[in-house]
Amino acid sequence: MRRRESVLVVDFGAQYAQLIARRIRDAKVYAEIVEPSAVRERIREGGVVGLVLSGGPKSVYAEDAPRLDLEGIAGEIPVLGICYGAQLLADALGGEVRRTGVAEFGRTVLRAAPSSVLLKELPPENIVWMSHNDVITSPPLGATVSGSTDVSPVAAFEDEQRRIYGVQFHPEVAHTDRGEEILKRFLFDVCGASPSYTTVSVIDAAVEEVRSKVGSERVLCGLSGGVDSAVAAALVHKAVGDKLICVFVDHGLLRKGEAETVVRTFRERMGMNLVEVKAADRFLEKLKGVVDPEEKRKVIGETFIRVFEEVAQNGLGEDEGMGAPRFLVQGTLYPDIVESGTSKAATIKSHHNVGGLPESMQFELIEPLRDLFKDEVRRIGEELGIAEEIVWRQPFPGPGLAVRIVGEVTPERLEILREADAIVIEEIKRAGLYKELWQSFAVLPTIKTVGVMGDERTYAYPVIVRAVTSEDAMTADWARIPYETLERISTRIINEVEGVNRVAYDISSKPPATIEWE
Ligand code: XMP
Repeated sequence: MRRRESVLVVDFGAQYAQLIARRIRDAKVYAEIVEPSAVRERIREGGVVGLVLSGGPKSVYAEDAPRLDLEGIAGEIPVLGICYGAQLLADALGGEVRRTGVAEFGRTVLRAAPSSVLLKELPPENIVWMSHNDVITSPPLGATVSGSTDVSPVAAFEDEQRRIYGVQFHPEVAHTDRGEEILKRFLFDVCGASPSYTTVSVIDAAVEEVRSKVGSERVLCGLSGGVDSAVAAALVHKAVGDKLICVFVDHGLLRKGEAETVVRTFRERMGMNLVEVKAADRFLEKLKGVVDPEEKRKVIGETFIRVFEEVAQNGLGEDEGMGAPRFLVQGTLYPDIVESGTSKAATIKSHHNVGGLPESMQFELIEPLRDLFKDEVRRIGEELGIAEEIVWRQPFPGPGLAVRIVGEVTPERLEILREADAIVIEEIKRAGLYKELWQSFAVLPTIKTVGVMGDERTYAYPVIVRAVTSEDAMTADWARIPYETLERISTRIINEVEGVNRVAYDISSKPPATIEWE
């Protein structure tokens, strides 16, 4: 297979590499994250038009500093080193990196040489984002200095002949003025890449790949209502139509109106073959008396697998004369793959079966989103015509409302939380905050507190409102929601939800708290 045109982002520290790759893709060039040790083989496979060496937390002098052997690369393929990547180039190609004792962090003024290929047309002074201890004191042999700061005599260098470039600052972050323009100059002027990586081209390629893999077999997909499984299903549906069977298990722990939205979107609007399994009673029965959060997750996970298994084995219209599905769709995303080690290690891992499914149900996996970041998945979802309320839905945990009900999950308590949660979401949307918040929801604790309504003393549940901003759920901050919005949420919940007489707002960040309450 001819490999598509790619720029490799060599990973010297995961968080930097992902952001660089996203920026390159925003410029419509496909970027792939690779470990230093995998670079050579990847180049041999073809399609590579340039390399970007990412930043990283190490010093090039550290004993365990990640290295890249540039033999046969420097001078052959364009290379751009960013931060650690630039230092690595300087160190390896006859320049010099020193620890001068003066570090540079945050906003810094960069003076750019007008003759520079990467920095041309920039004003003489630019704000760039820096984050380094070591300083490049002389550029690689044959390279010229194209930018400097008060601390860094070599904040940018370039060797136009050998197409080797380095910037000490981070062009990938929003705080760097015109960073996007600098990256684009490298991609288009230096590497000669074409801006052909578009939503439509991604869909076409995925459809083609799924179609050739699946042939005339059947494919199974578990729909949760979340963005990833929805987009994965829609892509596979576009590729193989009715050979795709979606199973949607309604475990009764969904948000208000969620099950209806899923059925309406996929069956009615998109015409998919959707099996809806209403299993709320079964899950609630299993959850009776369970209060420990991990036990809840375990019970829900196991019950889910049993239900899924029963449907897959018995409920898929054998009378159509088609065999059992051979493939299973999974909404694995690119960060899941790069974060779990090298892309190679992750490939091996993802070929294993889905956690918990019995031996007798072996599927081959189809992961149409495995090269994509979340924002790309959303754009594809929009292009495929999936309802906005699904494409832009905030993340929702697999065990659903069960992990937002502290203590036992009962039908009554579920009802209270579901109604309160719907008000939170409605008001957050009304305030125009829904998309900028990572998650916003209601939590129901076990305690009751005293209140007074009318002339009567009440003894009822409080509801806790939780709203956080986050990039990746690893860390999160409580959202500074306007008081007016909080007031509306509070008033409406107390007035409209029976059994609630108090509303509190959770002002804890993660860490030390978590996003969910359980
Ligand atoms: P925490 O609460 O650990 O959550 O800060 C981080 C992110 O993960 C989601 N989450 C889950 N997702 N099954 C899931 O599929 C779970 O058991 C689960 N627990 C938490 C949570 O909503 C947040 O986005």
